[in-house]
Amino acid sequence: MFLTLEGIEGAGKSTQAARLAERLRASGRAVWLTREPGGTPLAGAIRALMLHPEASRVALAGVGLAPGDTLVEPMLPLTEALLLSAARAQHVPYVREHLAAGDVVVCDRYADATRAYQGAARGVDMQTIAALEDVATDGLRPDLTLLLDISPESGQMRKLDASATGGEWNRLDAEDLAFHRRVRAGYLELAAAEPKRILVLDAAQPAETLADIIWETVLARL
Ligand code: TMP
Repeated sequence: MFLTLEGIEGAGKSTQAARLAERLRASGRAVWLTREPGGTPLAGAIRALMLHPEASRVALAGVGLAPGDTLVEPMLPLTEALLLSAARAQHVPYVREHLAAGDVVVCDRYADATRAYQGAARGVDMQTIAALEDVATDGLRPDLTLLLDISPESGQMRKLDASATGGEWNRLDAEDLAFHRRVRAGYLELAAAEPKRILVLDAAQPAETLADIIWETVLARL
């Protein structure tokens, strides 16, 4: 079974993905907990470049590869979509391998994120997004997607709190509320179009309650 978790920043996906993986393991199932962008070292490096271009630039300068000037050019939406797709193309064969071995794969974000962030929020046209998705996923679709829905205001507050205690704060977290509203609307539109695969859950409720609901839902599908 291939499970994905989606949602705007601060929805609590990563916490819930980890709890779900723990419960699945405790019930005797083999689990691969992974994420996008990431899941393999190379895809992780693409993640760093996509989310923290400035830091990547400093690292590249260390090996004499960065251009000399200190200004960072803005990353174009299409570049962002292509980088994410490259990371996905690198990751998907590993997901397939784990699925073939009988593991439950729990993935923190997947192709729906590109539709919501680069498509709905950044404005890359949906035909391009769909074409990139076909190439990068080679047709691998999640069996179930849990969309953790929360208001952008609450999401941003949670993210800020977490970053104050060492949590990641990246280029996309720093986008304004209007951006996060477009991401959320994009996700909800996807859920409305595919209600059987994408389940919308209220992420404003206590994490424990949400974890229980997720567990019951996944058990029923298994
Ligand atoms: P995270 O917050 O789940 O760690 O994800 C990292 C960031 O990457 C998050 O801001 C959303 C962004 N992202 C996209 O914009 N498009 C994508 O396709 C994926 C997988 C992530």
